[in-house]
Amino acid sequence: MATVDVRAETGVDTALRADLLACWTDVSNAGGAVGFVPPVTPDDVAPALERLVEGVASGRDVLCVLTVDGVLAGFAVLVGSSSPLRRHWATVLRVQVHPSRQGTGLGRALMEGVHRIAVGRGWEFLTLSARGGTGVDGFYRGLGYTEFGRLPGAVRVAPGDDRDEILLIRRLQAPVPEQPRALVDPGS
Ligand SMILES: CC(C)(COP(=O)(O)OP(=O)(O)OC[C@H]1O[C@@H](n2cnc3c(N)ncnc32)[C@H](O)[C@@H]1OP(=O)(O)O)[C@@H](O)C(=O)NCCC(=O)NCCS
Repeated sequence: MATVDVRAETGVDTALRADLLACWTDVSNAGGAVGFVPPVTPDDVAPALERLVEGVASGRDVLCVLTVDGVLAGFAVLVGSSSPLRRHWATVLRVQVHPSRQGTGLGRALMEGVHRIAVGRGWEFLTLSARGGTGVDGFYRGLGYTEFGRLPGAVRVAPGDDRDEILLIRRLQAPVPEQPRALVDPGS
């Protein structure tokens, strides 16, 4: 049975960078809504990956890497806020599973890992956006996200093909406050 894992990466070495770039390029060329419109080459995607890596290296963001039997199968990034008033919020970006592995439950596994990592970092709310007309918002709704608005026509996929950006939010499990210890045995 395959071992599926989602781990938080705080640094990106050369090998991981190459895997991320290959995945992001393949996902984009398969029509995935992760910042590009196909066709793209690795050179097109590389600057966006560089920005992602910089955010992670700064300590503000967390890269969540999905592996199956140790091989990269997808990733997402948790982007924190630099505002001290918004330390409890993060944005999830670039959610993707390699096209060869989509539709087998790995997207759900990735997002469950993202949620676990976010809770561990103290984030209480996650926001993300989905490209209208792709149906992918249904994936997030199934994971407990609710729509809180839309930016009408904000994504210009092609001239004459403007899509809404659907804004979604999910509250993560709030930490359970420590119960005060009973001084008197309630059974006595
Ligand atoms: C979106 C994505 C991450 C989902 O991963 P996946 O491995 O294909 O999804 P899963 O197999 O884990 O599906 C989990 C559930 O979501 C549903 N789902 C998956 N993709 C969906 C979609 N596009 N629309 C509606 N529901 C979807 C599945 O039917 C499944 O439902 P179930 O639990 O009731 O059976 C993946 O398809 C992907 O990488 N797409 C390209 C990149 C992209 O567009 N990312 C979104 C950026 S906003």
